[in-house]
Amino acid sequence: MIKNTNGKTGLFIPGPTNIPDTVRQAMNVPMQDMRAPDFGDLTLPLFADLKKVFKTETAEVFMFPGSGTAGWESCIGNLFSPGDRVLMSSFGQFSMLWVDMAERFGLNVDHCEVEWGLGVPLQQYREILEADKNHEIKGVFACHNETATGVTSDISAIRQILNDLDHPALLCVDGVSSVAAIDFRMDEWGVDVVVSGSQKGFMLPTGLAIVAVSQKALEMRGRATLPRTFLSYDDMMKTNVTGHFPYTPATQLFHGLRSSLDFIFDEGLENVFARHHRLASAVRAGVHAWGLQLCARDPEIYSDTVSAILVPEGFDSGEVLKTAYYKYNMSLGAGLNKVAGRVFRIGHLGDLNEIMVLQALAGSEMALRDCGINIELGSGVAAAQETFIDAAPQLHTIAA
Ligand SMILES: Cc1ncc(COP(=O)(O)O)c(C=O)c1O
Repeated sequence: MIKNTNGKTGLFIPGPTNIPDTVRQAMNVPMQDMRAPDFGDLTLPLFADLKKVFKTETAEVFMFPGSGTAGWESCIGNLFSPGDRVLMSSFGQFSMLWVDMAERFGLNVDHCEVEWGLGVPLQQYREILEADKNHEIKGVFACHNETATGVTSDISAIRQILNDLDHPALLCVDGVSSVAAIDFRMDEWGVDVVVSGSQKGFMLPTGLAIVAVSQKALEMRGRATLPRTFLSYDDMMKTNVTGHFPYTPATQLFHGLRSSLDFIFDEGLENVFARHHRLASAVRAGVHAWGLQLCARDPEIYSDTVSAILVPEGFDSGEVLKTAYYKYNMSLGAGLNKVAGRVFRIGHLGDLNEIMVLQALAGSEMALRDCGINIELGSGVAAAQETFIDAAPQLHTIAA
């Protein structure tokens, strides 16, 4: 086999995402004393800026060493007790894993199992919450963006249901593949916990679980009896006041986060969301031009950060991935669990632009064709190009 070391491996998975060179370089700093009196000069502005990304004025932000899964666990471990009734739904690998975690912690889960390709079952949530006259349900959980199927759910609609019913349950949201890429309005949507991670919209290596928790949720933590140590909100709050940590934090990642937040604010948060929508729309145009279908059932729930694409019956999406990887030096996202072999995913979040999306589509086309799937080469690329010609903003003044 010839080893091809030319150029970069195309990374089109939905996390870890591509990291801007400036952000990578920002992490190349000497180690420093995390107990130094001025350590907060680095970290306190990060907490303040993360609030802007979460769109919250009042929530407390935590940065745990860990990944999104640690963020999930912090939510359950700090705010709930064994036997607590919680309402959850699964419609993909990640929503399913959060349910599994809650069950392993001994929570009493009302589990709505939804067909993969759909999102949070709003009507079912309403019915279950309406029937819960004694407010036994302590938490309502939702995966904002199901990365396995490319489905985005409407978190504001869940808040509306809770408000309509005057139900006090905490609203706990997985924003791992949405935050910093798809609009997230913690305060406006009355979200009590939002969990995210460093390696997706924040364009960093894996290693930080970034979590925001409302004051209402923090007041509940005294009632919750699950043990918590490493992921304790209490311990973090004591030290975070001065920008310090209860144990050795991931200092290099904080420097990276400083740089990536600067990137996000330079572009403008709303422009970041608009870019993700533009790139996602182009991918979807490409998929439709191939004559293939998305796993997400309805345009209203299409994700702007990842597209899960169904291969025709009789074909194995795993072969498409392998071909893309070994022949064209590009990584596409695998189909997970129930959709293994049936979908491949194009991650379109993080440090990505129009031309990179065209690369992803062009490489996918060749891999699909190699695997015998009958698509017209160039059709997806051309469809995406058409959308970009209409929609891409002019970044610089064109010289006369
Ligand atoms: C929506 C969602 N939630 C949770 C996770 C788990 O996060 P991590 O792999 O960072 O632990 C992922 C990972 O891809 C995810 O996409």
